[in-house]
Amino acid sequence: MPSLDEEELFLPSTPGKFKDRSNTMHRQFHRCFASTSTLFLWALFLVALTASYLSFQSFVDSGSRYFSSTWGGIHWEKQVRTSAQVRRANGFSVLVTGAAGFVGTHVSLALKKRGDGVVGIDNFNNYYDPSLKKARKSLLNAQNIFIVEGDINDAQLLAKLFDVVAFTHVMHLAAQAGVRYAIENPHSYVHSNIAGLVTLLEACKTANPQPSIVWASSSSVYGLNEKVPFSESHRTDQPASLYAATKKAGEEITHTYNHIYGLSITGLRFFTVYGPWGRPDMAYFSFTRNILQRKPITVYRGKNRVDLARDFTYIDDIVKGCVASIDTSKKSTGSGGKKRGPAQYRIFNLGNTSPVSVPMMVGILERQLKVKAKKHMVEMPGNGDVPFTHANISLARRELGYKPTTDLQTGLKKFVKWYLSYYGHNHRKSVK
Ligand SMILES: NC(=O)c1ccc[n+]([C@@H]2O[C@H](COP(=O)([O-])OP(=O)(O)OC[C@H]3O[C@@H](n4cnc5c(N)ncnc54)[C@H](O)[C@@H]3O)[C@@H](O)[C@H]2O)c1
Repeated sequence: MPSLDEEELFLPSTPGKFKDRSNTMHRQFHRCFASTSTLFLWALFLVALTASYLSFQSFVDSGSRYFSSTWGGIHWEKQVRTSAQVRRANGFSVLVTGAAGFVGTHVSLALKKRGDGVVGIDNFNNYYDPSLKKARKSLLNAQNIFIVEGDINDAQLLAKLFDVVAFTHVMHLAAQAGVRYAIENPHSYVHSNIAGLVTLLEACKTANPQPSIVWASSSSVYGLNEKVPFSESHRTDQPASLYAATKKAGEEITHTYNHIYGLSITGLRFFTVYGPWGRPDMAYFSFTRNILQRKPITVYRGKNRVDLARDFTYIDDIVKGCVASIDTSKKSTGSGGKKRGPAQYRIFNLGNTSPVSVPMMVGILERQLKVKAKKHMVEMPGNGDVPFTHANISLARRELGYKPTTDLQTGLKKFVKWYLSYYGHNHRKSVK
């Protein structure tokens, strides 16, 4: 019984017509030749496909250059090494992530000023005006602090940095900040606050010696907690925003790396940090811009028309808390990617302990700017904001000697002075 294929082979192509044998043989030969050349073409195609796949692989392997083409080379390594040089007895060499950010810039300057070596890393993303980040970078460069332009998800870049410098500490401040932006771009939070954190911890765990890590969590982890003031022992399992959820996840992830690999970890829950070189997405900053431009500002109110309140904390106080955390952190205990003993794990609130209502904050700005705000009072939408924050800082006071000294009035005065010197009354530079 012929197979279906054979049957098909001898069937006349046109029904009703009979084909003689020689013609059939000729067609068979032709088909055979045609199928050989088709096979040859397919083989060629497969070879080309494999070659292009292999060259793509080698492109991906050779780099993490996919993330950035601005690192590597002898000159680059020299810049990293020079920037990391310690200039005081028993000083540290610190890798600061998010160094072109608001807090990162201030912490980098403080460390460098006292003689520690500092290398920054930042991806200069456009969550807010990158020109402000570039201006902060220039400020750091002027103090001989080198900032690598790169992403903390770039494992090869991180490995290279630890290869070039035996960092004693990592001050991890790179993150997708802001609560409301998660509605628009949720994945940026996962990218920086979860995936980026894990990539960084992997690099730290493998580094020899392992650095001690101090990193920024957030007061937002208290979420729907209503007990005040917020204490480190309060529950943090009710986040009100994706941002808060990623910070809470960060606390759990760092705990895991502490437990398994012996990394020394200190997590800092910052409470609404403000000051010169601040973040344009924060209320005190955007209110200043709008008030000066005579534009209305939207002030949110909680349920039953209750004013929102924040434990505004001045940047210099936060910097002192960060530096004290570095100074009191113990060494990591692991080596060769393995834990050799229990390592330190700490979490501290860094706040001001004196919450101020948002309308009162606006009142201070009005007096500083000598312009009346056009307030547009609106009920707070359910987009992740919480009605109030208030830090209990007893633990940080006891363990870090943390003692905030700047009240909102004094701090905003310094902010407004900087704002006017940077943007001018007429907003010479753009603010997004
Ligand atoms: N400012 C506050 O009020 C406040 C409050 C609580 C917690 N925090 C936390 O403190 C830290 C610093 O905050 P900030 O106010 O300076 O914010 P920021 O946005 O000014 O600084 C963060 C910096 O990290 C960089 N960055 C983000 N993702 C990155 C990535 N994947 N790779 C490399 N760089 C990346 C950004 O470009 C930015 O320059 C953040 O972790 C933030 O979540 C801030």
